[in-house]
Amino acid sequence: MSLEDLKREAARQALALVEPGMRLGLGTGSTARHFVDLLGARVRDGLKIVGVPTSEATRAQAESLGIPLTTLDATPELDMTVDGADELDRSLRLIKGGGAAHLREKIVACASARMVVIADETKLVDTLGRFPLPLEVVHFGASATRRRIEAAAAAAGCPGEIVLRTREGAPVLTDGGNLLFDARLGRIPDPEDLADRLDRIPGLVDHGLFLGIAERAFVATAKGVVVIATTG
Ligand code: 5RP
Repeated sequence: MSLEDLKREAARQALALVEPGMRLGLGTGSTARHFVDLLGARVRDGLKIVGVPTSEATRAQAESLGIPLTTLDATPELDMTVDGADELDRSLRLIKGGGAAHLREKIVACASARMVVIADETKLVDTLGRFPLPLEVVHFGASATRRRIEAAAAAAGCPGEIVLRTREGAPVLTDGGNLLFDARLGRIPDPEDLADRLDRIPGLVDHGLFLGIAERAFVATAKGVVVIATTG
């Protein structure tokens, strides 16, 4: 099975949780793309749902598939968000934001009664941090903010390099127009402590740690899909 097959299989499992009338948060990235694709096929067959996209890329995909969309302003409470992750551990702590969308993804996930993660087995780790932690930062004072992030990471026991994300020599901007830094930490021994420290830094709009948000994950492996859940 290819990695794309595994991602699609995880997406298929999440699709089985979708019921008529649901208000759905639609994630971002290559795994979430499979979910939106499969959802589009169900909508074409008559399923009635409404979605809130977590990025302009997902909005464009959903629109192209004829999935009815709304906004969180019009629909502030959602039933379920389905999204990918860059890393997850067995306590359903996540790193997200590899696709630059973690702020909107977190807002949408937190507006949802449940967040379901879909991933292939390469995303499952014992300790978070191998994937660089994405950080959305406003332009004003970005260098000073970066220094504070560096100090916070060191104080949380995971010193590392904080690097501006660029593409073809230019800074990558989020859908909200902010900068992205990636914190190369290697290993985050205490994600809650790090998140607490990061939450107190002005200028840092949000970090890619999702703690206590996801309720269930479908992790597709070559041997089948593993379910990790915080509740029965
Ligand atoms: C985007 C994200 C994605 O969910 C994450 O990057 C996983 O993407 P993929 O499914 O392509 O590996 O957080 O901001």
